[in-house]
Amino acid sequence: MAMKVVITGGTGMLGRRLAIRILARPELRGPGGNPEAVDKLVLFDASEPVEPPPDDPRVQLVTGDICDPATVEALIDGETDAVFHFAAVVSGGAEADFDLGYAVNLTGGRFVLEAARRTGRCPKIVFTSSLAVYGGERSVDDSTALTPRTSYGAQKAIGELLVNDYTRKGFVDGRTLRLPTIVVRPGKPNKAASGFASSILREPLQGETVSNPVSRDTRMLILSPKRAVQAFIDVHNVDGDVLGPNRSVMMNGISPSIGEMLDALRAFAGDAVADRVHEAPDALVQSIVDAWPWYADGARARKLGMKPDASVQEIIESFVADELGGKFVS
Ligand SMILES: NC(=O)c1ccc[n+]([C@@H]2O[C@H](COP(=O)([O-])OP(=O)(O)OC[C@H]3O[C@@H](n4cnc5c(N)ncnc54)[C@H](O)[C@@H]3O)[C@@H](O)[C@H]2O)c1
Repeated sequence: MAMKVVITGGTGMLGRRLAIRILARPELRGPGGNPEAVDKLVLFDASEPVEPPPDDPRVQLVTGDICDPATVEALIDGETDAVFHFAAVVSGGAEADFDLGYAVNLTGGRFVLEAARRTGRCPKIVFTSSLAVYGGERSVDDSTALTPRTSYGAQKAIGELLVNDYTRKGFVDGRTLRLPTIVVRPGKPNKAASGFASSILREPLQGETVSNPVSRDTRMLILSPKRAVQAFIDVHNVDGDVLGPNRSVMMNGISPSIGEMLDALRAFAGDAVADRVHEAPDALVQSIVDAWPWYADGARARKLGMKPDASVQEIIESFVADELGGKFVS
């Protein structure tokens, strides 16, 4: 039996990369519990794709607004087996526009759950949360209370509770992946407050100078896009009974300091590349980043076999190989 899968935010950075992976091989477990081919993959997004979407007859591109319930109901129909819900206003954007953040990140997510509920077939919903749900602890684990200090973090935390409750009621088979900051994010910077963590590696490798807004001893919890995509497949496939009533899985990352990230860039690409990074302290960015955890001990993810990257070097190498065709500007 082949599956229909919907990715909201499907032409965004993670959505597109997950789509490519899903099309490459049958790995998603279907309703029978076995890996099944996907014969229909709907990529739903508000914007025209920045990067070319996968060229594959199984892909259908749908443009629309997640805040429109009729659109979402038409999107998630009685044939839908799984929805990866990625559409979101990212952290800096949700902080800058309070109403837009709540409309997209909270109400939009609720529409996804409602549409899935109305199908009457309990589809899988994979929601994407963030370490922004935490509130300033240096170190977090699976039992740390969610006390977000930004609107984005609050919207993600509420989304996690909704996924648990719709699952408890038997409306959906939900699961949430709580992600660290994704580094290296390819393409242009977005409005995420964490964007600099990718820029300080991405821009120098492409011959551009870049500012580092935070101190060298600041630590960031990071995960590559490749490992994030694998984690989405893993969390989709895990048996719901193994998760129990709490459907959230905090993904582990690695915790280099900014100085260690820049040292790894220097070791990999040389002095000319590393010297393209200039220190330009920004108190606002520093204060936002200071509220995020430096260390995560996700025993649950570990037990499920979900692995972070081995090192910053591995992250840089996979960015150059996957996104820059194996070459950088020395
Ligand atoms: N990248 C990270 O570091 C990170 C970390 C933690 C969590 N997340 C979460 O992962 C998910 C995917 O992130 P990403 O990095 O791919 O972001 P992204 O910005 O590349 O993708 C999000 C997509 O959502 C779409 N979107 C925004 N508003 C919409 C609307 N009203 N209707 C329909 N689509 C809309 C955007 O056009 C965009 O393509 C998001 O939910 C994000 O909050 C990302």
